Amino acid sequence: MPYVVTERCVNSKYTDCAAVCPVQCIYEIDDPAMVVIDPDVCIDCHLCVAECPVHAIYADHEVPEPYKSWINRNRELVPRGRNLTEEREALPGALTLDQVQELERQRGWDVLEPADS
Ligand code: SF4
Ligand code: F3S
Repeated sequence: MPYVVTERCVNSKYTDCAAVCPVQCIYEIDDPAMVVIDPDVCIDCHLCVAECPVHAIYADHEVPEPYKSWINRNRELVPRGRNLTEEREALPGALTLDQVQELERQRGWDVLEPADS
């Protein structure tokens, strides 16, 4: 049951998640600009979920339907990522959670927030 970073992270990349991961399994990707989780190393500790300002991280069995493809995409993208273990500045123009939710509504998506976020 690894954790999965969804499209909510793309072009925001707050990186709070990387600072708390006890097994350092978070990788930074440039295209798309986001982080992903190595599913083979994640120990399902749940710590990163509450840290993300845009609630981009879900347990794999809880990923909302519109974001299901990110389960495989995290695994696929890890090999071209750089291990990220510290918090950094978010990207310029990083969205707020309200803005993310508004974009989802415009796309006609009904997205539940991650448990205990
Ligand atoms: Fe790291 Fe825990 Fe998040 Fe997995 S659930 S990515 S181990 S902080
Ligand atoms: Fe992305 Fe949230 Fe981490 S925006 S970098 S998953 S804190």
